[in-house]
Amino acid sequence: MEEKLNAILAETLEKIKGSADLKSLDDVRVGVLGRKGSLTLVLRSLGELAPEERGRMGKKANEVKKQIETSLDERTSALSEAGISELLKKDWIDVTLNAPGTTRRPAAGHIHPISRLQYEIEDIFTSMGFQILDGPEAETEHYNFEALNIPKHHPARDMQDTFWTEDGNLLRTHTSAIQVRGMEKVRPPFRVVGPGRVFRYETTDASHENTFYQVEGMMVDRDISVSNLIFFMKQLLREIFKKDVKIRLRPGFFPFVEPGFELDINCLICGGSGCPVCKQSGWVELLPCGLVHPNVLRSGGIDPDEWSGFAFGLGLNRLIMMRYGINDIRHFLSGDVRFVYQF
Ligand code: DAH
Repeated sequence: MEEKLNAILAETLEKIKGSADLKSLDDVRVGVLGRKGSLTLVLRSLGELAPEERGRMGKKANEVKKQIETSLDERTSALSEAGISELLKKDWIDVTLNAPGTTRRPAAGHIHPISRLQYEIEDIFTSMGFQILDGPEAETEHYNFEALNIPKHHPARDMQDTFWTEDGNLLRTHTSAIQVRGMEKVRPPFRVVGPGRVFRYETTDASHENTFYQVEGMMVDRDISVSNLIFFMKQLLREIFKKDVKIRLRPGFFPFVEPGFELDINCLICGGSGCPVCKQSGWVELLPCGLVHPNVLRSGGIDPDEWSGFAFGLGLNRLIMMRYGINDIRHFLSGDVRFVYQF
């Protein structure tokens, strides 16, 4: 039996030395120390020996077992260290990287293209001596209609379908209400712009929204004429489009201006030769404007014999749609950030 034990020891130590990885090392361990391992079987057969032999052989067998275990432990740590340094060599870890499927850091906020254009336009007008004014989105009939020369029952009220509140007020249908508030705040001569959100009780489609954005502008001084209006509008368009833009004025009706105009720009897509965007006309309607109606000046406490002015109402959604080639106005308020992140 002693020989057998020596043989198991020698053979096992040899196998341990020769195992190249943790898996084959474990196979060696099971082969010797497992339930049916060679050493286990010897230990189990000790009972068959004569009592004096049993004690000697038991001691010997335990020494062999200890030696094998020590050797297994040493080889295990040697192999796992080698494994780690091997892994480090070919498979390094960037601990600054996010785990798969997680975001590196919370997405930063993003300025909506409408806000961006609004800030741009505010900068352009501020640089030309305009003040920026604000007004409430829920308005009274006075500011939205009456003071703008649109009395009750005037057919012009039908031009703008209105959301009425239960107490007889309304959601402003245009930023022109800000002109009226402006005339209460500042005395002529003045130049003001009022950006904001406006509301119409409309069925929506690709070119109609019930909520959109405008910038109202108004300049009041002595002897203001259509030439002043044209100058400032051209200046604005040059800054927005970063080039000279050809314009034309057509007559347009708005109760708060006289004369009133539709300002068209030369189609920027085709350069004026005609395309689907300008419906082959070469022109795109962009900006309603005019000279402030004497009744409006009067309602703001300004004497129309002494002062005159121009006003305009610029729609921001349409401008951005033209700038970026957006084909549906409903994208702006869809709440889909994939839309916003494109800009
Ligand atoms: N308030 C008008 C609208 O929303 C736009 C407008 C037209 C504003 C002519 C003006 C103007 O200041 O002079 O339809």
